[in-house]
Amino acid sequence: FQKEKKILHEAHDYSAKLYHYLLLNTEAARPAMEYLTSRGFNDTLIEQFGLGYAPARWDTLTQALERKGYVPAEMEAGGLLSRRQEAEGYVDRFRDRIIFPIHDPSGQIIAFAGRLLSDGQPKYLNSPETALFNKSRTLYRLHEARPAIRRARQVVLFEGYVDVIKAWSAGVHNGVATMGTALTGEHAALLKRFADEVILCYDGDDAGQAAAHKSIPLLEEAGFRVRVSVLPNRMDPDEYISSHGQEPFVREFIEGAVSAVKFQLIYLRKSHILLEEDGKIRYLRDAVRIVARRDSPTERELLLKELAQEFGVSLDTLKQESLEFRQQEKL
Ligand code: GTP
Ligand code: MN
Ligand code: MN
Ligand code: MN
Ligand code: MN
Repeated sequence: FQKEKKILHEAHDYSAKLYHYLLLNTEAARPAMEYLTSRGFNDTLIEQFGLGYAPARWDTLTQALERKGYVPAEMEAGGLLSRRQEAEGYVDRFRDRIIFPIHDPSGQIIAFAGRLLSDGQPKYLNSPETALFNKSRTLYRLHEARPAIRRARQVVLFEGYVDVIKAWSAGVHNGVATMGTALTGEHAALLKRFADEVILCYDGDDAGQAAAHKSIPLLEEAGFRVRVSVLPNRMDPDEYISSHGQEPFVREFIEGAVSAVKFQLIYLRKSHILLEEDGKIRYLRDAVRIVARRDSPTERELLLKELAQEFGVSLDTLKQESLEFRQQEKL
């Protein structure tokens, strides 16, 4: 098993170097280069993140790996090649895609993500789970972000690979992303070794905000303080940085990330019609329930004061209601 892993590590290293070389040095990669340039990637970023290009041909990597003496069946099990559909043999898994190498926490390449240059499905193709690669334990760029995470005892979680890269170039060096899948308890436990605070910097669309909402209890149970960046609807960090600049992004959404409970109250608003009387009452009840779950009496009082002021009810009434929730839920 150890030998199998060692071979796969070497094959991934070799493939990453090949894809990177092909991106920088071949005519066939020109559209890929133009695509990256149009998205704001310069040579330094391409180098730093080891980006590559998998050509449109079926056998670029297949042939190269064979020439190096690797066994195709083993390379297929490692996620680098695919079995041919209706014949014997193997073909490249990644074709005509920008390649993002994915590392384990020790810095070893264990997988790839490949992005199409234009619209189509799937937009990102990841390596399958293999002896090296477990999605629920992998965080994109953790190996490079770890020193900054440790220093600040804080990690910023993004949805997308490109978001991590663009945030990095904006000076946010403690950012990582999940592999297009939900955040797991294993991710949280891994991060807890280096950080006490998580900033959830997900996309501003409904899916991103729902994912942030779901991740809060998971992270709080793991012992994190959680803050959330609420980006404008239909913008992700990359898009925000491209259209508004690096400095406003950091100021508004990293330094300006709101507390988890503030986010939960903002999120709750979306599902209530506050113009109607009973919508308002239901919102207030649900909001007080969220506040009631906070451990700190000071935090509860401050939040209840804000709600009381905004809705023109007395603080005493909301405190009373909060106490009842706490008794019901035995807090
Ligand atoms: P760009 O369009 O390149 O900026 O990607 P994005 O990161 O903004 O993508 P999006 O917000 O749509 O999705 C967030 C993350 O989900 C991506 O970074 C991927 O990890 C993952 N993802 C998106 N599309 C797909 C897909 O078609 N298949 C898989 N497996 N993952 C995807
Ligand atoms: Mn290089
Ligand atoms: Mn998204
Ligand atoms: Mn996105
Ligand atoms: Mn994006």
